[in-house]
Amino acid sequence: MLAWYDVHARDLPWRAPPGAPFADPYRVWLSEIMLQQTNVATVRPKFEHFTARWPDFASLAAADEAELMTAWAGLGYYARARNLVACARTVVERHGGAFPGNEDELRALPGIGAYTAAAIASIAFGERAVVVDGNVERVVSRLFAIDEPLPGARAAIRAATDSITPETRAGDFAQAMMDLGSSICTPRNPKCLVCPLSDRCAAFAHGQPDAYPVKPAR
Ligand code: ADE
Ligand code: SF4
Repeated sequence: MLAWYDVHARDLPWRAPPGAPFADPYRVWLSEIMLQQTNVATVRPKFEHFTARWPDFASLAAADEAELMTAWAGLGYYARARNLVACARTVVERHGGAFPGNEDELRALPGIGAYTAAAIASIAFGERAVVVDGNVERVVSRLFAIDEPLPGARAAIRAATDSITPETRAGDFAQAMMDLGSSICTPRNPKCLVCPLSDRCAAFAHGQPDAYPVKPAR
């Protein structure tokens, strides 16, 4: 996955600049909040505008709320924008303007749940955190042919993701899985013939990638 990522990583403005091992924690956080309910194509220009206007926690903590809401327009779910300022203020007041580097302290901040804490810890701080979003859930459920339906399957999917997360470059690994899920291991008609994981993929071996993740019984 890491070798595949070195060649095929999407060029996204919140990722580490060339030569840098890690991305800026502020930018990782902002992008993860924006990407929670909004797709990459919509987020990209909003992210560029936001980071030019408010480049760090200190400036965001002091942002004019009306201007912030206007800048957020198009991303939806305005509660996220309000949480953003609350989190920036807490980071300034409690942590001196920089994020703590571990999952537990990140999770204690406003608007940061388990997924976001894991994403920031791995992508921005190089911690070996287990990052499972919708894309990763699909890739891993196929890779291991996890037959249990969602949502019950989530524990097995998390354990399986943990078992394949590397000790180093966990953030790159997570983002590689996200990129694979968006470009190759897609919800329908996955491109298994060009997938770097096809020779280890249980769903592909059984000829039924589309069967995973198994939907809840109804
Ligand atoms: N979706 C959520 N986080 C992402 C990231 N870091 N890269 C690409 N897509 C994402
Ligand atoms: Fe997904 Fe197919 Fe790759 Fe398996 S082989 S991970 S189903 S794209």
